[in-house]
Amino acid sequence: MKRYIVCALAAALSVSIAHAGDASRGKELSAPCAACHGADGNSVAPDFPRLAGQYETYLFRALQDYKWGARKNAIMAGQVEKLEKRDMADLAAYFASQQGPLHTKH
Ligand code: HEC
Repeated sequence: MKRYIVCALAAALSVSIAHAGDASRGKELSAPCAACHGADGNSVAPDFPRLAGQYETYLFRALQDYKWGARKNAIMAGQVEKLEKRDMADLAAYFASQQGPLHTKH
């Protein structure tokens, strides 16, 4: 019985942790983003911000802001138009998990 309760708790916990994005699903969704931001989020053109290694919460917030118009950019508004909250969380998790330029300096 005790063991059962522990398992149930662990399951409940992993569900709440799973609120953070799923990077592997984010990778699948990221194909259209690659054209501008680079496949791993390290864009080569100065017009497109690097997403790799950026904080997950920051990326998620930015995507939501484009979606709801708090941050206005015609290109990105079109990109997030069809994305669900979960998609944006997964995309944020994927790009955050990629190695950005700052990591190489350690
Ligand atoms: C056609 C080019 C293009 C595509 C495709 C594109 N983006 Fe962007 N993205 C931009 C530009 C340009 C900006 C800078 C906009 C601004 O000034 O707010 C930007 C900004 C962002 C930012 C904010 C970055 C920061 O540092 O604040 C995020 C996050 C982002 N894009 C994610 C995505 C994701 C995820 C996708 C794929 C679903 C995507 N973008 C597809 C051009 C693009």
